[in-house]
Amino acid sequence: MHHTNSILATFIVLFRIALTQTYNIQTPPFFLYLVSDDADFQGKFLSPCHIGAGESTLCYNSASNISSDPSLYTYALNTTADEPTDPSAEIYGAPGVLTWNLPYNGNQFESIPMSFVPARSVSGVALLDFEPGPASGGTQIAFDDNNFMNVQTVFANATETGLVYGSSNEAYYRWYMCNATEPPGDYNYWTLSWDLSSATPADSSCCAVQVWRMFMPQAGQPNP
Ligand SMILES: *[C@@H]1O[C@H](CO)[C@@H](O)[C@H](O)[C@H]1NC(C)=O
Ligand SMILES: *[C@@H]1O[C@H](CO)[C@@H](O)[C@H](O)[C@H]1NC(C)=O
Ligand SMILES: *[C@@H]1O[C@H](CO)[C@@H](O)[C@H](O)[C@H]1NC(C)=O
Ligand SMILES: *[C@@H]1O[C@H](CO)[C@@H](O)[C@H](O)[C@H]1NC(C)=O
Repeated sequence: MHHTNSILATFIVLFRIALTQTYNIQTPPFFLYLVSDDADFQGKFLSPCHIGAGESTLCYNSASNISSDPSLYTYALNTTADEPTDPSAEIYGAPGVLTWNLPYNGNQFESIPMSFVPARSVSGVALLDFEPGPASGGTQIAFDDNNFMNVQTVFANATETGLVYGSSNEAYYRWYMCNATEPPGDYNYWTLSWDLSSATPADSSCCAVQVWRMFMPQAGQPNP
């Protein structure tokens, strides 16, 4: 959908970085699956893939059986002890940071948060970046009652007199799988991406998906 003739442009405020709160209440581990009209992506799971020193993004994994080493493919949601203040949290799930256990030294793990970073080579989308260290912050995401991953943020219309914000957050599900080369020329992957615009991503390879979490069976749970 292209609204080039529309007077009003629409924006949502992104990159709410969770710097000031402690996100230390952790769900049990879960897998992330794709739900899509595209048969190539439907039912496939997301696994972290390397995009730089210690840095990973979420990639399509074509394997259908991940039980060989599930610890590499599970995530958790870390929330705070504070009650969410926005009414959207009651409808669409309490926001928190998506965490992944980065393996190191063979058998050790460091819990690291996911942050959106603008893709360097794919227009109009952000990648989901897991990077260790204090600068990594964490972008707030949530899972609704049906376990679909969303981003809750306030909606704003640009008008002649300035931005007009909505009164409370809404949930957005602007997930795509895009053929990204990160950094250009180095790695070529299908990566989960967040559409930064309110239109279709400029990159024509991007395919709309939803991200669904499935908690791991409790028996034999290796991660976290
Ligand atoms: C998530 O919460 C767990 C449990 O409190 C904690 O061990 C871990 O460090 C947290 N991860 C992040 C990235 O905050
Ligand atoms: C998946 O892999 C596990 C462990 O290797 C094996 O026990 C199981 O039978 C496999 N499942 C399928 C559906 O292939
Ligand atoms: C933004 O504009 C649309 C279309 O006119 C309208 O339906 C919506 O309520 C507006 N939202 C806000 C927050 O002003
Ligand atoms: C993704 O894009 C790269 C660079 O344009 C191309 O070489 C590659 O074949 C594409 N991969 C797929 C699976 O379409």
